[in-house]
Amino acid sequence: MGQAWVRNAWYVAGWAHELGSDAVIARTIIGEPLVLYRQDDGTPVVLQDRCCHRLAPLSMGRREGDNLRCMYHGFKFSPEGRCIEIPGQPKIPPKAVVRRYPAVESGSWLWVWMGDPALADPTQIAPTISLKDPAYRMKAGQLDYDANYILIDDNLLDLSHLSFAHENTLGRGMPQWAQERPRISRLERGLRVERWIQNRATPPYMQQKLGDTFDNFIAYDFLFPGLFLLRAYFYPAGTAQRVNLEAPNEPPLFQRCDDQAVTPVDARRSRYFYAAGARAQDIEWPQVEKMYGITETAFHEDKALIEAQQKMIDRDPEHPMVLATADAAPTQFRRMVQQWLDAEQPTPGAQRIA
Ligand code: FES
Ligand SMILES: [Fe+2]
Repeated sequence: MGQAWVRNAWYVAGWAHELGSDAVIARTIIGEPLVLYRQDDGTPVVLQDRCCHRLAPLSMGRREGDNLRCMYHGFKFSPEGRCIEIPGQPKIPPKAVVRRYPAVESGSWLWVWMGDPALADPTQIAPTISLKDPAYRMKAGQLDYDANYILIDDNLLDLSHLSFAHENTLGRGMPQWAQERPRISRLERGLRVERWIQNRATPPYMQQKLGDTFDNFIAYDFLFPGLFLLRAYFYPAGTAQRVNLEAPNEPPLFQRCDDQAVTPVDARRSRYFYAAGARAQDIEWPQVEKMYGITETAFHEDKALIEAQQKMIDRDPEHPMVLATADAAPTQFRRMVQQWLDAEQPTPGAQRIA
């Protein structure tokens, strides 16, 4: 049985800067080949990457103004996916169409709606930080995974792994990640995960602001299919106790930001987009580079583990897992994904999420 996908969702197809004004690029999302280009005014267009004529990829074609021409026999398509020209033939068959997917540029990502176009609502796209926003300094990257996206989601929903998988990078000297349980609350399309980490050692470049140790309130929204929008707020040591470990509502001395998105390519491949940085008032570019470097090293640690985990799962797909309390968020999220999948399927429960 092939993997079933939740279709009615906005998926990140790429960084906006990957799609230049004349570029025509191929992407695969939830197993479907897509072609991306821009209209003259910059509006992104996403069509099925398969010419309706003899099924050549349209991503091997060329942009002509707002339209896209297949460079096999020259059929030309409008941004709506309608064939508007067949060389040497005045009449165009009504069936000469390719599927159009609603597409939007928001923040610094290109988003594509893989489900029923009538349900596509761009106001549902989560706000993310634009790389061009002068209020922030963020550095961006991406990583390809040979693994199902849900394993990467599990990883991001359970940061207890920082103390071990990242013992030399993001979790260095921080057993608290594994020892303390976050507060989890439900959102419409995912979960919010919040925790205090008290008495962290301050990195040298922040010591002037924060002293030797600080309290860190770390909160992220995790939204389908794999959006991870984290803000880490840095406060003077003692703040966590003073606010009784509740969410603080005083301005932080420093704020780190991480916007990430996991996009399923197919059942065994995923693409991971990420940006890391802080408010511009808090940080200079050399520190952003350093922070990003550590973060990216950590992402390679995750990738090595998760790809190996995927191989182990594939040796014996039915083998049970013994879950711990730290699995609360990934377990809840998987249940939500199953519910969204069931809601889109004629026979609920017949399809599995991974
Ligand atoms: S395959 Fe595209 S025009 Fe023939
Ligand atoms: Fe990780």
